[in-house]
Amino acid sequence: MWRRPLNVFCKHHRFLKGSCDGVKGMCGPQVSYSVPALPTASITALQAMALWERCFEDGGISEPECSSQYIIAHLLGAKTIGSLERESLTACLSREQTEKMWELCIQRLSRIPVQYVIEEWDFRDLTLKMRPPVFIPRPETEELVGIILADMQVKQGAGVCIKGQYTCLEVGCGSGAISLSLLKNLPQIKIIALDQSQDAVELTRENALRLGLQDRLQVHHVDIIKDAEAVVGLCSPVSMLVSNPPYLFSEDMTSLEPEILRFEDHAALDGGHDGLKVITQILTLAPKILINHGPVYLEVDPRHPPLIQRWVEDHVEGLQYVDTRHDITDRPRFCILQKKSQMHDLD
Ligand SMILES: C[S@@+](CC[C@H](N)C(=O)[O-])C[C@H]1O[C@@H](n2cnc3c(N)ncnc32)[C@H](O)[C@@H]1O
Repeated sequence: MWRRPLNVFCKHHRFLKGSCDGVKGMCGPQVSYSVPALPTASITALQAMALWERCFEDGGISEPECSSQYIIAHLLGAKTIGSLERESLTACLSREQTEKMWELCIQRLSRIPVQYVIEEWDFRDLTLKMRPPVFIPRPETEELVGIILADMQVKQGAGVCIKGQYTCLEVGCGSGAISLSLLKNLPQIKIIALDQSQDAVELTRENALRLGLQDRLQVHHVDIIKDAEAVVGLCSPVSMLVSNPPYLFSEDMTSLEPEILRFEDHAALDGGHDGLKVITQILTLAPKILINHGPVYLEVDPRHPPLIQRWVEDHVEGLQYVDTRHDITDRPRFCILQKKSQMHDLD
């Protein structure tokens, strides 16, 4: 049984703060919250869960029920409480388990995202290790991977040969969610993943090793803006480019939920004043990196698709805008572009 997405980490929630009365992020005053004393008598998993759910509610923690459920399930060696036998929930926790439950729940009470508290999260059919400040994968990005896989199937069905040497570049790999999902589903693909964050590079490598997907993956600590030449040298030519870049408009950063603002890397979120800082760099380099007709898949803000289309028409000769796709809430969230063929490359 897979974990369901938490609303606070859904992008159609747009990362923005809800009405958590009295709770302030790092930029505001610190919150005081009351922590229930460690019980002296034995307590069952269900009792501990109910007690902490109330406590999270009182502390203004978003999704209090899910938070306490995911923590207890993790403690009992499962992903969800639905996958546990009734007996393990009604049995008393050991002293060690009780202490661990308190330790993890106190972390959640201080607004640490539950994904960091339990140190893992699900992305499509993978379970990935999570560690702050590396970006926690969002459900929309699962849709992006689904779109790429469906398009690849259509191409194969139409007789387009996806050769043995099919290579993909991912810009901004974070925990490795996109690259590892593609590697798992496409045995013919090789991926070069890069990120400006050393923490992200290490976590992607660790997740690849845990999943046994390291052989077809190269991970580099590179900044696509500062090290543009190195990126072109390391990566070209590739068959496809994919990215879920930082794309929030800077002015929206201040209204993020405390969980996000305080614990996730701002460089993974802030795309500059118009959200396009990293996106325009990717699009500028794309024709130098891609083979002819190689596609670019981007996850973007719903305001971005027309801006990107116009920007590419005005600034990048070798690239054409192909399509805008919508997410499950019908918002325009994914842009597909393609390298134009160059006459001297045709044979
Ligand atoms: C929104 S996160 C996406 C992470 C991961 N691909 C996912 O979907 O969960 C954006 C990632 O881009 C990386 N990044 C931001 N600016 C970058 C740059 N200039 N060069 C390379 N990577 C960058 C961040 O460190 C972050 O890991």
